[in-house]
Amino acid sequence: MRILITGAGGQIGHDLIGALVAEGHELVSTDLAPRPPSHAHAGGDWQRLDVTDAAAVQHLFTECRPELVFHLAAILSASGEANPRLAYDVNQTGTWNVLEACRRARVNRLMFTSSIAVFGPPPSGPLPDPAPDDSPLHPGTMYGVTKVAGELLCAYYRKRYDIDCRGVRFPGLISAAMPGGGSSDYALFMYVDGVRKNGYEAFARADTRIPLMYMPDGVRALLELAMADRSKLTRTIYNIAAFSPRADEIATSVGRLLPDAKFTYKPDTIRQGILDSWPKAIDDAAARRDWGWKERFDLDGMTDDLVPRIRRMLELGAILSSH
Ligand SMILES: NC(=O)c1ccc[n+]([C@@H]2O[C@H](COP(=O)([O-])OP(=O)(O)OC[C@H]3O[C@@H](n4cnc5c(N)ncnc54)[C@H](O)[C@@H]3O)[C@@H](O)[C@H]2O)c1
Repeated sequence: MRILITGAGGQIGHDLIGALVAEGHELVSTDLAPRPPSHAHAGGDWQRLDVTDAAAVQHLFTECRPELVFHLAAILSASGEANPRLAYDVNQTGTWNVLEACRRARVNRLMFTSSIAVFGPPPSGPLPDPAPDDSPLHPGTMYGVTKVAGELLCAYYRKRYDIDCRGVRFPGLISAAMPGGGSSDYALFMYVDGVRKNGYEAFARADTRIPLMYMPDGVRALLELAMADRSKLTRTIYNIAAFSPRADEIATSVGRLLPDAKFTYKPDTIRQGILDSWPKAIDDAAARRDWGWKERFDLDGMTDDLVPRIRRMLELGAILSSH
């Protein structure tokens, strides 16, 4: 299948490109940035594309005529709070541009990557735990606001123009790559700094609990939903879940493999505020029912797979030492 990815240079793009190339798809990876060194192995074509540039998006989509687009380009939650205007431009206008280009270039299917950041505490009281798909959405960040709008735009283009838009609300994703400025980054740094520095001071409280997922499961979810039989789908956007550990439970899991690692907690006001506004767990019954979603990794399973990978990547110098 001819597939185009926006924002391919990031954390998800890295693993998604590998999975799509392995399946033999014809791939055009695009990003604002040049192909990063961490993606050097990735096959397929690489083109510069700024999703805020409507004419450029339109031109490339018309030229490539992809059958399927994975729209990943975004400014994530913590970076978006530092620069809400940029988050609005990339996430809101960018998604509009991508949908319009899909309509005009007659792209058949679009995969949208939403987030648990669409949730936030409703004025009437706390979020249900776990939060169902159809919870009222009261995001507290510009990132969440733009993801809610993106979900609604996807549903609109599906209904109005019959573009087969589908999407998942990802939990915080963990992989052996430097994360891109999300509020769940403390979880990955427990692994990376646990290995390279023998410990980590988390920017979150020990009792912080949010939904997380290991990247191989996240990429598989994207592929499975993208290829699912349309007649089985009852929604445009699906909650997907794997596990919801407290920060200190992650530390305990990492400690099984790195017994000398020390973890401490010093909450950062802004990022802790974002984490506290998110659901502690989400209900993904519809994804399980409609397209057979099921995670393969629990917390300890992820830890057992991830720690040796991070060790190897640090030895190869593939994880940057900045932080
Ligand atoms: N990683 C997570 O934990 C997570 C969780 C929920 C949802 N998501 C969503 O999944 C998608 C991919 O996330 P990620 O973790 O790979 O993010 P990332 O920050 O690692 O990558 C995003 C990519 O978008 C690119 N980009 C930024 N502005 C752009 C522009 N104007 N035009 C084109 N590209 C631009 C960046 O260069 C970067 O390579 C995003 O839509 C994100 O909201 C991610």
